[in-house]
Amino acid sequence: MAFPPAFLDELAARNPIEEVVGQYVNLKRSGSNLFGLCPFHGEKTASFSVAPDKGIYYCFGCHKGGSVINFEMEIEGLSYPDAVRALAQRAGMEVPEDEQYQSRYRQQERLWALSKEAARFFVSQLYAPAGAEGLAYAQKRGLTKGTLTRFGIGFAPNSWNSLCDAMLAKGYTEEELKDAGLVSVSQKNGRIYDRFRNRLMFPIIDVRGNVIGFGGRVMDDSTPKYLNSPETIIFNKRKNLFALNISKKSKLGYLILVEGYMDAIALHQYGFDCAVASLGTSLTEEHAVLLSRYTEQVVLIYDGDDAGQNATKRAIPMLEKAGLQVKVLQMRDAKDPDEYLRKFGADKFRLLLEESSNRMEYQLRAIQKKYDLTVDEERIRFVSEAADFISSLPGAVQREIYGTRAAEAAGISGDAMKLEVSKAFKRRMAREKRKQEHIDLAPAAARQPKSRTIHYENVKSAMAEENVIALCLRDPGLMEQTRDLKPESFSSPLLGRVYGQLQRQYESGKDPSLAGLTDFTGEEMAHIAGILQRSTEPVSEQALKDSIRVIRQASQFKNAGSDEDLLSLQKKLRESKGIKA
Ligand code: CTP
Ligand code: MN
Repeated sequence: MAFPPAFLDELAARNPIEEVVGQYVNLKRSGSNLFGLCPFHGEKTASFSVAPDKGIYYCFGCHKGGSVINFEMEIEGLSYPDAVRALAQRAGMEVPEDEQYQSRYRQQERLWALSKEAARFFVSQLYAPAGAEGLAYAQKRGLTKGTLTRFGIGFAPNSWNSLCDAMLAKGYTEEELKDAGLVSVSQKNGRIYDRFRNRLMFPIIDVRGNVIGFGGRVMDDSTPKYLNSPETIIFNKRKNLFALNISKKSKLGYLILVEGYMDAIALHQYGFDCAVASLGTSLTEEHAVLLSRYTEQVVLIYDGDDAGQNATKRAIPMLEKAGLQVKVLQMRDAKDPDEYLRKFGADKFRLLLEESSNRMEYQLRAIQKKYDLTVDEERIRFVSEAADFISSLPGAVQREIYGTRAAEAAGISGDAMKLEVSKAFKRRMAREKRKQEHIDLAPAAARQPKSRTIHYENVKSAMAEENVIALCLRDPGLMEQTRDLKPESFSSPLLGRVYGQLQRQYESGKDPSLAGLTDFTGEEMAHIAGILQRSTEPVSEQALKDSIRVIRQASQFKNAGSDEDLLSLQKKLRESKGIKA
């Protein structure tokens, strides 16, 4: 989606970044920057910065950053064009609608409407004669009439074409049915047929209330137990959670994260109206961020089996990274929450919930489980591993509490445990120190971008390239001096692309700005914002010239065709530095 640069320019000008960010973050001025607590990761000291003059935000903690558009995308979970539209609306501006984008949005709207119609159709079938078996199954699973209604649960009849026919009759096309993932295409004759047949149907609804997909459960032991909609332009499993549309309104003050549709639904039915489920995928960072938009505390309840425990271990750091407080509820005497509630009821479950432990307890218990504490050998190893874990806790009180607990478990004195923890602490510090020294000894490696997808081939040149970009953004007038520097001379393709776009902005009479950059990923934008935000030395033509020289030299070396070229370059370089060949 390409918006005209002039429009983006005005959009940024009319949405001052400090105002937009200020709606979400309490900002305090410090010099030319504003600082606040990062809304994208949990922190106690403000490392989230906004530079009004540069039009950017950047978090020194989690390295998120970018222009006002990126902020809007990130904080509201919007796509690029949607964020642009939201900001335009905020500033009362007309959006020059790109034909391609308009048609894509219209297509999405059609698919939302189609999916809603399909959901209505499935509900009607549940109460029709064709759905008798489905209704009986739902009742057997203990779902009340109210629950069926609240979740829009329906039934896909045992037929190859009933949904197709009903939707075609409503004016939807075969193409749209395919795009919505509601039909499959026959290999034999290319005809479409209903994807969901003879299944109890759970509509998946996003936080804005759009039906975006379905999960369908068989009523016997056949496989697959659940059939889900495929990924479509309206259904992204990584970014949506089942029942969040309802749970986000809960007054309970936390969200419960479970594995299954039925678990979430049962929890709601028993009064825990804050349960959501991931959609047959493991938890993603996007899920974690999504959750953090609606709550500060998540209770994780995964199945008691090994898979569930592993999933728990993976999920904890992800949720914490999104700034969430995590508690873990260990399933006991039942396979999952649905089964537990039906066996023991809501009051018993509430007790479980109350004793659900925080992450530290959970981890300590997980370590404990690995060892047979009746065997001396294993107790020793337990103490050592527990000490290592406890020494990593940031607070002295925490270390005290969990140290005591570990000591009790191992049957040793509190003092002995304290000694172990302090030894582990020293070992840890020594490790950290070695790591730090290693970093100091290898400055080039340390300057490599923190991102996984951005890598500098030639760090020295890349530093100069970063500098050129930062200087030009800080003082657009300097672009006059860089006319002869070509993007192709940049060693980093990413930085070359940035520089090329800045040049084009400048040539079209605009001051180059971050907000005017297009076609960069969020990660790339964050990286660029980081470059700009770290650039603090005084802007000068000399600094610019020095950087340009470094870039030129690197590129000449890279492009030197033969050994002779290289030799003569080397000679010139030495001469320019006053060294005799
Ligand atoms: N799942 C899936 N496809 C499958 C099996 C499971 O997408 N073939 C997803 C579903 O979202 C399901 C969740 O994984 O809700 C958990 O699966 P499982 O524990 O097997 O099912 P339950 O939720 O216990 O379902 P039920 O109680 O209906 O047996
Ligand atoms: Mn179950």
